[in-house]
Amino acid sequence: MNDANRAPLAAAMKAYAASGVLAFHTPGHKQGLGAHPLLRDFVTAEGLRAEVSLADELDDLHRPESCLKEAQEKAARLWGADEAFFAVNGTTGAIHAMLLAALSLGDEVIVPRNIHRSVVGGLVLCGARPVYIVPERDEMLGIAHGVTASSVRRALEKHPAARAVLAVYPTYYGVASELEEIAAAAHEKGVPLLVDEAHGAHLRFSDALPTDAISCGADLVAQSTHKLLGAMTQASMLFRKDRRVPAERVRRAASLLATTSPNYLLMASLDIARLQMEENGEQLVARAVRLSEELRAAVNELPGLWCFGRERMGRAGAAALDLTKLTVNVSGLGLSGEEAMRLLREKNIQAELADERNVLFIVSMADTERETRRLFDALSALSRENAGRQSLAIPSVLTPPDLVAELTPRETFYAARQSVPLAQAAGCIAAEEVTFYPPGIPAIVPGERISTEAVEYLREMMLLGLKVTGARDPSLQWIDVVQ
Ligand SMILES: Cc1ncc(COP(=O)(O)O)c(C=O)c1O
Repeated sequence: MNDANRAPLAAAMKAYAASGVLAFHTPGHKQGLGAHPLLRDFVTAEGLRAEVSLADELDDLHRPESCLKEAQEKAARLWGADEAFFAVNGTTGAIHAMLLAALSLGDEVIVPRNIHRSVVGGLVLCGARPVYIVPERDEMLGIAHGVTASSVRRALEKHPAARAVLAVYPTYYGVASELEEIAAAAHEKGVPLLVDEAHGAHLRFSDALPTDAISCGADLVAQSTHKLLGAMTQASMLFRKDRRVPAERVRRAASLLATTSPNYLLMASLDIARLQMEENGEQLVARAVRLSEELRAAVNELPGLWCFGRERMGRAGAAALDLTKLTVNVSGLGLSGEEAMRLLREKNIQAELADERNVLFIVSMADTERETRRLFDALSALSRENAGRQSLAIPSVLTPPDLVAELTPRETFYAARQSVPLAQAAGCIAAEEVTFYPPGIPAIVPGERISTEAVEYLREMMLLGLKVTGARDPSLQWIDVVQ
């Protein structure tokens, strides 16, 4: 067997399970012996037999020397990195480790304003000071894209002490920014590029998709192997390339944040997802791309529906598209994205997410013609059943006023807080985030001083009836501020 076509961690687990060894160790279910039948139904007797840790043959995540070391090395090779770290707390855990490795207390870091909450969590842990740049947005689609290289360059000029740049690549909607140029901008200033590539584990396997972050020059990359490839939910990877962030620091950060009892089935699923891609990743991803493109073309023939494609790329913050993401705009049917998602659920189709205008579908390497046909039939029925309704009027979104950050996310996290009526919030420091969809870019982030214009902006956005997230009181009558 070709050496790449082995799953060393999975093989070690199978060997341990088959050895007949009598377990006087954790986990308490003792290889399934004491497991409830319901758990056995879920995991299977064989799965439970392999669900072990702490045995010498199974290596140690905190000091990998044998099968786990080999599995991580194979993953690093396949994804073009110098080092890979298996993460069992999702990409959230990988992002926390990435920030803790690259940044120290008080360091400035350039970040897009529409980061995932895991990045905010990482900033709380490492104590860095974010310098936000506003991502580009597409008014017609009602979604936020990536940031441009020129806005990164401007931020680096204005903040010469910044110690890193973070990019989200691609976005949840599959839109990829000009990452190579962003990497060049960071490297010209001698700082590393950290990438949240939660939605990009499959990019490396198709030339029809945006170039993967490591190939674009990223230094650290957090990737959800579970989101678009075959690993189990929660199983992700952190990759390191080159030495702008010291290897030892990355190892320490990854170890600090990892449990001492990592679930071996999760880690084996990373090893096996890597093997699957090694064996026929290119064919599997090519099929997903072909099916998506066929589905996109067919959906665009349906009255009232529109699914953007490559033709909408080549704009600021939107250089290329992950074609396997289908963002279907339903406002032509007089429906919001949320309403359409609910109607589709009644037809036994579950979408990934919905916003004001769109429903997002993911076609992955798991799908065949049968699945995309069912989705097309459901969308076709949705189009027929809602024909003749007036298009949804979408309010145009105002640009939020610029705010001054007084506290870091960490300082805000530890500060005492209180709720005040929105009318009295001007002058206070925000203790929570407020984001309207569209455009999905926070209007206020924790630590920023709320201005009179900001209060006015929040009021106007509420009057437009836009969906608000982040705030504890979704009616925004009250807002959490630092005491
Ligand atoms: C852009 C982005 N980054 C990070 C994450 C966190 O990933 P995980 O759920 O694997 O922790 C997500 C999850 O949805 C995400 O969308």
